[in-house]
Amino acid sequence: MGRAEAAAMIPGLALLWVAVLGGAAPSTPRLRLSFQELQAQHGLRTFRLERTCCYEALLLDEERGRLFVGAENHVASLSLDNISKRAKKLAWPAPVEWREECNWAGKDIGTECMNFVKLLHAYNRTHLLACGTGAFHPTCAFVEVGQRLEEPMLRLDLRRLEDGKGKSPYDPRHRAASVLVGEELYSGVAADLMGRDFTIFRSLGQRPSLRTEPHDSRWLNEPKFVKVFWIPESENPDDDKIYFFFRETAVEATPALGRLSVSRVGQICRNDVGGQRSLVNKWTTFLKARLVCSVPGAEGDTNFDHLQDVFLLSSRDRWTPLLYAVFSTTSIFQGSAVCVYSMNDVRRAFLGPFAHKEGPVHQWVSYQGRVPYPRPGMCPSKTFGTFSSTKDFPDDVIQFARNHPLMYNAVLPMGGRPLFQQVGAGYTFTQITADRVAAVDGYYDVLFIGTDAGTVLKVISVPKGGRPNAEGLLLEELHMFEDSAAVTSMQISSKRHQLYVASRSGVAQIPLHRCAAHGRACAECCLARDPYCAWDGAACTRFQPSAKRRFRRQDVRNGDPSTLCTGDSSHPALLERKVFGVEGGSAFLECEPRSLQARVEWTFQRAGEAAYTQVPAEERAERTTRGLLLRWLRRGDSGVYLCAAVEQGFSQPMRRLVLHVLSAAQAERLARTEEAAPVAPSGPKLWYRDFLQLVEPGGGGTKSLRMCRPQPAPRPPPPESRRKGRNRRTHAPEPRAERGPRSAAHW
Ligand SMILES: *[C@@H]1O[C@H](CO)[C@@H](O)[C@H](O)[C@H]1NC(C)=O
Ligand SMILES: *[C@@H]1O[C@H](CO)[C@@H](O)[C@H](O)[C@H]1NC(C)=O
Repeated sequence: MGRAEAAAMIPGLALLWVAVLGGAAPSTPRLRLSFQELQAQHGLRTFRLERTCCYEALLLDEERGRLFVGAENHVASLSLDNISKRAKKLAWPAPVEWREECNWAGKDIGTECMNFVKLLHAYNRTHLLACGTGAFHPTCAFVEVGQRLEEPMLRLDLRRLEDGKGKSPYDPRHRAASVLVGEELYSGVAADLMGRDFTIFRSLGQRPSLRTEPHDSRWLNEPKFVKVFWIPESENPDDDKIYFFFRETAVEATPALGRLSVSRVGQICRNDVGGQRSLVNKWTTFLKARLVCSVPGAEGDTNFDHLQDVFLLSSRDRWTPLLYAVFSTTSIFQGSAVCVYSMNDVRRAFLGPFAHKEGPVHQWVSYQGRVPYPRPGMCPSKTFGTFSSTKDFPDDVIQFARNHPLMYNAVLPMGGRPLFQQVGAGYTFTQITADRVAAVDGYYDVLFIGTDAGTVLKVISVPKGGRPNAEGLLLEELHMFEDSAAVTSMQISSKRHQLYVASRSGVAQIPLHRCAAHGRACAECCLARDPYCAWDGAACTRFQPSAKRRFRRQDVRNGDPSTLCTGDSSHPALLERKVFGVEGGSAFLECEPRSLQARVEWTFQRAGEAAYTQVPAEERAERTTRGLLLRWLRRGDSGVYLCAAVEQGFSQPMRRLVLHVLSAAQAERLARTEEAAPVAPSGPKLWYRDFLQLVEPGGGGTKSLRMCRPQPAPRPPPPESRRKGRNRRTHAPEPRAERGPRSAAHW
């Protein structure tokens, strides 16, 4: 029995977190960039409307160069080049009567009885379709955006509204999942006020509306829809299918396990028109299969059971895109994962055995009997048979389809396990989008993962062993918002090289790459493994495959600078500083690598000696995230300290710090000289500055002293950050009570 079959029917799924994943530390990004850094140095732009929350719907329009945004009571049109510039907005509140009704139904007037715009689709050459919750009264409208080359416009005719039932959710907390194909909208929503009648629904267009069988838990069991895609199956449009991604309560779980969340992929045929005598105006081609994202373990699998988002990455042909999905877990551990699926594996599950349950007391098993012809799930088309409409399907086919919507086999991820996972990182993944990038040594998929903490993780997928095995590497953690509201939607413009991110509090835009942030040396650029960046001989800059490759150095696959960057004469000059200390006092030797994944190594050359030795690990020499803190200084500590960042086995020198330790007497003498001097008033705080001028005429020392003062004001780190050690950039070294005479660096 394969894993797909074993995984199919759920009972044995133990949540063995501690054994499998509990002990693993979360991955550290190579770079972590704060909102302030992104705004000041990396072109982060933001957009928000006053007193408006809940930016949820994003629609990218490359041709018009616009980003359309749906939020509370508003639709906005932003420039893709700079979302902060010349935005157009349109107010679309719910009418007062609807808000009152909503309030009478027991909903909160200020937070729920609003029109939350949930869905935006490009409808035709001049109009968008927009749908909102309309204060628990779903409504749609056509928004006029003008012809492509006209001045941007945004106009809505409030007299021509459409019923939004079955298109937009009622409840602002629910998500809308839909796709517009031609003039028809395929959506997965709750189609009633109470949020109990969940349906997969086709509306608009010329054909009669179609839906799933209502209140049949075998079809849908309290589903939460995530995404809907239209994916062709062949050149023949009659074979086109619509795929629904959702999670629901498992019907197939044994009752002893209680309510168990499972993730699903469902399919329907685009040319389904319902049955003739039974399943009238209902889908006759609906099937669903379990989507597994788990880590196999000796004693059972660890499941990421809560599907959060799916991104469809196009490949060379239209019918075999890759599916990137993010999951979280409902177990007591906070964890999330990215799993990748191939469309062929999804189709294989729908061609496999059906799940079958003989009666209420029976187990779910693989159906062994005769499957009627045409096989349920097949579209009526010339490619596979002779039926031209689902209304011609024989009765036994319709009956079988009604009773067997669930497939027995599950869909497993490529490589059999998650591409990337994060357990115990303090956040969960909510959204995903991806970009396929041409690098020097081939194509790489770059994933942007939105989290519930308002951050975006940039992860690359690199081959591991033979294909299809790949692993995700965490390159960047970007803090996109001032607050930490969850990311609700993301869009990529490959053409403009920009990422657009929405959250409850606003919309933000950032370039896909920040090559200069990786560093100023060839090795740093190479170690970054960012397929968007390469070393051009002088700096780390954007890699463009069309440009001359000869001079570009990049190694995304291995991140090994030893061959690529040797003989590179463009090493930035080693930063050299003088640092002074007083016997018995302390000195701080600052050295902080850009990469959070680098380890810092300190070597020491005692004054008057030739050999370099490792700085011993002892209580006197405390390694902090920002540098080396030397306490209870001795005269013998004078010498040259070299700091190097070690990453992937590659050591890169960063700083050369020359420490002079003076005796207490020397220091006192200097201080007295300074006190006697008829210069500026010299309180103890200013003492060091003058002292340095005496020691090192020219005053260059002031700077170095400031460099060696730990910042910000020392404060004991919280216990967990201490455990994570160098994962944290923020905490400064803790000073201990200093003994002995004054320390040189009067902190
Ligand atoms: C974007 O537009 C805003 C407002 O006009 C402007 O202040 C900002 O400098 C622009 N940013 C970029 C990167 O063009
Ligand atoms: C687009 O659809 C809207 C709404 O149905 C309609 O008013 C408009 O005329 C259509 N535009 C074109 C160019 O077909």
